[in-house]
Amino acid sequence: MGRWQKIAIPFLGLVLAFWFYSARENFKPEMLKGKRVIVTGASTGIGEQMAYHLARMGAHVLITARTEAKLQKVVERCRELGAASARYISGTMEDMAFADHVVKEAGTLLGGLDMLILNHVGASYFGYYNGDVEHVRKLLEINFLSYVAMTTTALPMLKESKGSIVVVSSMAGKVGFPFTVPYSATKFALDGFFSSLRQEFTMQNVNVSITLCILGFIDTERAVRDAAGVLLSPPAPRAECALEIVRAGALRLRELYYRYGSTRLPLLLRDCAADLLDYLVRSRYRL
Ligand SMILES: NC(=O)c1ccc[n+]([C@@H]2O[C@H](COP(=O)([O-])OP(=O)(O)OC[C@H]3O[C@@H](n4cnc5c(N)ncnc54)[C@H](OP(=O)(O)O)[C@@H]3O)[C@@H](O)[C@H]2O)c1
Repeated sequence: MGRWQKIAIPFLGLVLAFWFYSARENFKPEMLKGKRVIVTGASTGIGEQMAYHLARMGAHVLITARTEAKLQKVVERCRELGAASARYISGTMEDMAFADHVVKEAGTLLGGLDMLILNHVGASYFGYYNGDVEHVRKLLEINFLSYVAMTTTALPMLKESKGSIVVVSSMAGKVGFPFTVPYSATKFALDGFFSSLRQEFTMQNVNVSITLCILGFIDTERAVRDAAGVLLSPPAPRAECALEIVRAGALRLRELYYRYGSTRLPLLLRDCAADLLDYLVRSRYRL
């Protein structure tokens, strides 16, 4: 190793550690008090946990998903936990008119919007790509196009409040993962759209932050059921994951990597040793 690298690598490590931990210290739950927040896909999983964290912090929470009975229970719990207000709107994100409607309702009911957390994900299969193009199209509508539609409708309100957009993505949206081809495609699309939009916001002095969340394996029912017996890595807890997402949005971070060791660190290999990274990803699967 050259002399320059011997100095630069530890220095870079220190800068990264300082940046990571100083951002952690700055977060205060009061930052969310009274904020008007939409959380999509909040009937279960990570979205449900985000709704509970936001409720404890005293936010106005508007949640959405398809299953009304589950949404009702989440809203009741949010009220018990201290939400400034808690409401739900049920419907499917296959329908762009519904995506648009949710945001407009937030405007009417809450008088504006401070944070849009885009988290919902349509059902897909966990296995080799099966050639079903129609499924890829449908998943793109749910996992990608509805995110675009909601963002577009929410932008005037978010510009006014100098608000935040939080986009929940995955390691499968940064590097090719086997058994999730349609899902990965939708998550890569999110990175392209929102990273480009962030650039334009900077150029146009639009004070709306965009946080892209790169998650590893999390212990939600769906993920654990899909990956049972195949993925060798242990899942991380969904409540902690949800808190990290809310924190990253409040701090207006560019990207969140959760958990850091299983997402950010492997991704450092992507540009210098892509085949090695692909091998490491495959080695976490038991076939
Ligand atoms: N869990 C993981 O290991 C993991 C890893 C990386 C990234 N992520 C990302 O984290 C986010 C949350 O994942 P999760 O594991 O919490 O998912 P989950 O438990 O399966 O929950 C998905 C949510 O989306 C809603 N939903 C599904 N289809 C919908 C549709 N057509 N229209 C509207 N809502 C719909 C579901 O509610 P209804 O069924 O009631 O509609 C549910 O509330 C996703 O973006 C996922 O890609 C998760």
